[in-house]
Amino acid sequence: MSTWAVVVAAGAGERLGGDRPKAFAALAGRPLLAESIERLDASDWIEAIVVAAPTGWEEPTILLAEELAAGKVAAVVTGGATRAESVRAALAEVPREALVAIVHDAARPLVTEDVIGRVLAPLAEGFDGVVPCVALSDTVKRVERGVVVETVDRSDLVAVQTPQAFVCDVLRRAYGGDLAGATDCAALVERLGGRVAVVPGDPRLVKVTSATDLALVESWLG
Ligand code: C5P
Repeated sequence: MSTWAVVVAAGAGERLGGDRPKAFAALAGRPLLAESIERLDASDWIEAIVVAAPTGWEEPTILLAEELAAGKVAAVVTGGATRAESVRAALAEVPREALVAIVHDAARPLVTEDVIGRVLAPLAEGFDGVVPCVALSDTVKRVERGVVVETVDRSDLVAVQTPQAFVCDVLRRAYGGDLAGATDCAALVERLGGRVAVVPGDPRLVKVTSATDLALVESWLG
């Protein structure tokens, strides 16, 4: 199966502060984005990669891919105003022949070959999409205007990560419609009535949003 990866890296990362977009925040002396590009480029599962870069950071992204000798990076596109718009822009560069698309957040640097293999496997069983998940360990409450209105039963709730894998045609159809309110790709596939499987994620696939997350991920890099 020909599998293309989309890396969305166009977020501003305002919570991280600094003078550059999150994808270019320093992680062990390199841009955060380097980690995802290098790992996806080295993956036996992946044929080619499209990166959605922050506006104005297209050239540094191309240079980064060159420095990493990441020959699978086939295109760098300008990201959109939302994650979903960035995915849509990147998908436009994925050729019709691609059967499978994996979408990954650059903000989750520690993507592994194991988790890529796990999200790909259920596609062969007829699923439209597959998401890696982790159990919720905290109690979850619904809150209105600072007051708890409900404690939610968490037994059938999971937190969802990336990389997420999809039958490419289904993902394209999902991105052909309204993108409003979609915080991940699977949400749009679900709206179409697509079947989405869950597989175990990885606690180290945390999404870097704060300086503390960055330090934590850096410590895991060893
Ligand atoms: O903002 P958040 O951290 O939830 O974004 C998740 C991923 O989506 C990040 O890798 C970020 O770079 C990407 N993103 C994007 N374009 C946007 C917003 C977020 O590519 N407009």
